[in-house]
Amino acid sequence: MIQRFSYSPILSTGAVVKDLPISDGAPLPFTLDGQTFTFHMDEKTRVYGLGETVRGINKRGWIYESFCTDDPNHNEGKRALYGAHNFILIDGKQKFGAFFDTPSKITFDLGYTDSDILTVTPESFALEVYIVTADSLKAVVREFRSLIGKSYLPPRWAFGYGQSRWGYVTEQDIRECADRYEKAGIPIDMIYLDIDYMDRFKDFSVSPERFPNLRKLSDDLKSRGIRLIPIIDAAVKVEEGYGVYDEGHEKGYFCKDENGEDFVVGVWPGRSVLPDFLNPEAAKWFGEKYKALTDLGIEGFWNDMNEPALFYSEKGLLHSFEEIKKMDISQLNALSFFGARDVLARLQNNDDDYKSFYHNTPSGKLRHYDVHNLYGAYMTKSAHDALEELCGEGNSLIFSRASYIGAHRWGGVWTGDNASWWGHILQSLQQMPGLNMCGFLFSGSDIGGFGSNCTRDLLLRWMSFALFTPLMRNHAAAGTRSQEAYAFGDTEAFRHIITLRYRLLPYLYDSFRYAVENDEMYFRPLRFDYEDDEVAAAVEDQLMVGDRLMIAPIYTQNAEARHVYLPEKMTQVRMHEGDISTEELNKGWHYVSVPLGDVVYFTIQDVELAEPVRNTSELD
Ligand code: GLC
Repeated sequence: MIQRFSYSPILSTGAVVKDLPISDGAPLPFTLDGQTFTFHMDEKTRVYGLGETVRGINKRGWIYESFCTDDPNHNEGKRALYGAHNFILIDGKQKFGAFFDTPSKITFDLGYTDSDILTVTPESFALEVYIVTADSLKAVVREFRSLIGKSYLPPRWAFGYGQSRWGYVTEQDIRECADRYEKAGIPIDMIYLDIDYMDRFKDFSVSPERFPNLRKLSDDLKSRGIRLIPIIDAAVKVEEGYGVYDEGHEKGYFCKDENGEDFVVGVWPGRSVLPDFLNPEAAKWFGEKYKALTDLGIEGFWNDMNEPALFYSEKGLLHSFEEIKKMDISQLNALSFFGARDVLARLQNNDDDYKSFYHNTPSGKLRHYDVHNLYGAYMTKSAHDALEELCGEGNSLIFSRASYIGAHRWGGVWTGDNASWWGHILQSLQQMPGLNMCGFLFSGSDIGGFGSNCTRDLLLRWMSFALFTPLMRNHAAAGTRSQEAYAFGDTEAFRHIITLRYRLLPYLYDSFRYAVENDEMYFRPLRFDYEDDEVAAAVEDQLMVGDRLMIAPIYTQNAEARHVYLPEKMTQVRMHEGDISTEELNKGWHYVSVPLGDVVYFTIQDVELAEPVRNTSELD
């Protein structure tokens, strides 16, 4: 059952697809004091949900903010990452889901201030609350997902393996990457183009010097079964004579400052403006621009910097320079030095900037800050709607960094700028079920880690987990050590792991499809499948994948084995140097040895493996 409580919505966020009557007078499981919703948790209450966030699967004990944020430092102290996924699932004496549908900032204190008290405080009361009840955790999620509509289903090739790197700056770099995968016999379906392919970071442009013939490059690679997936950033370079800028400026399709002038920000291209994705006409116009690349044979994209990320605004920069000028160098001390440094640090993603520009929406002129969490979602919609036309229904791939619930119908998400840290393998595992609850099924993290330097053992372990994630992409930041599957000399172990992904792909893809069609989760905490098992409830580092499989990856440095909990009798499947062996194990705890390069997973019923292939075009 779903009940809807409506406060003062200023516009439809687009998250919900079912038009439900408002539940006047129905009891809310929260008490409402001012703008704060409060719920008293009993000792054992667990809280799930909130999509892409730091910390465990059970989120109790920390405080989270939904405010899409470009922050590459994903540590446990963070309250917000790139997504705003306002669904929580309370698992205690009372079991229910609660979705807080609001386009602006909202805080979830899940026992942080007071360990027994959960509060939810939206910054603005432009809000609808949906309370979802059902007789099991899975059923609550199913019911919630029926409210928000079917998840995005990308084409099957998008489930292949992809290699990315910020720093493939020429066509030769891309060809070399393809050749080295081929030479090593490692399957691959996609190579990603980061901002380096563009002409001075201008969206929908291609550098004529470094990528002189993208059409030919795309065709050549496609004939080998490899697709190119370019990045598109939200901000558009201010440059007269650049068609996208000129047209958008003339038509009034960029976000405006209080005086009605284009609001100028600094992102990768330097002086830039922000397409107004909340204006349906502007969104349609921007979407049509993808044609410049689909005409060159491109069928997939990743949308980035769409929180939107602002390095600075022109207004903020001028103000900071004034502040710094006022400082008296002769009086500098540690405090004033840090003060001066903070003047510049504060420029990035500054709330004052988010409060200084406006959207022209069907509900009238709205201040960006009040609808901040919808920006990335509507960029995804813009691309999705256009690509369905340009490439044909279901034939293209789109995923995004920023998101809001609703965008799960239009594209996937990746989890942004993580690091080459062991803890980030676990973090990625723990983010997946939360994302799935909120409808985001097509997801994955930057394998090997984006920032920091990767090592061979980290990459092997990360891949042994990520071979089960729908989006399987290795990606790294400019300036970091190479981390392609061929970068560490010996390629055999990588070949075996990535080959296993393809051998499992029929099961993984079918499970994904089933989850989409039936509003199920593809990744589930053990708790969701074994509600009567108190031991399973506490397991935070294993996941169910589809109906028949469970994973328990290694995520600590130098570990050769780990404890695994089997909530029922299962078959342990081991891949060792490409060979598969099995062993029956009883319900309970097991200490499982997993030497580096082996992959171990567990099945409830047989999961058939396909024959090894070089890419998805060779699968039946
Ligand atoms: C952002 C993205 C990252 C990308 C980089 C350069 O940091 O999250 O994936 O490589 O920008 O485009």
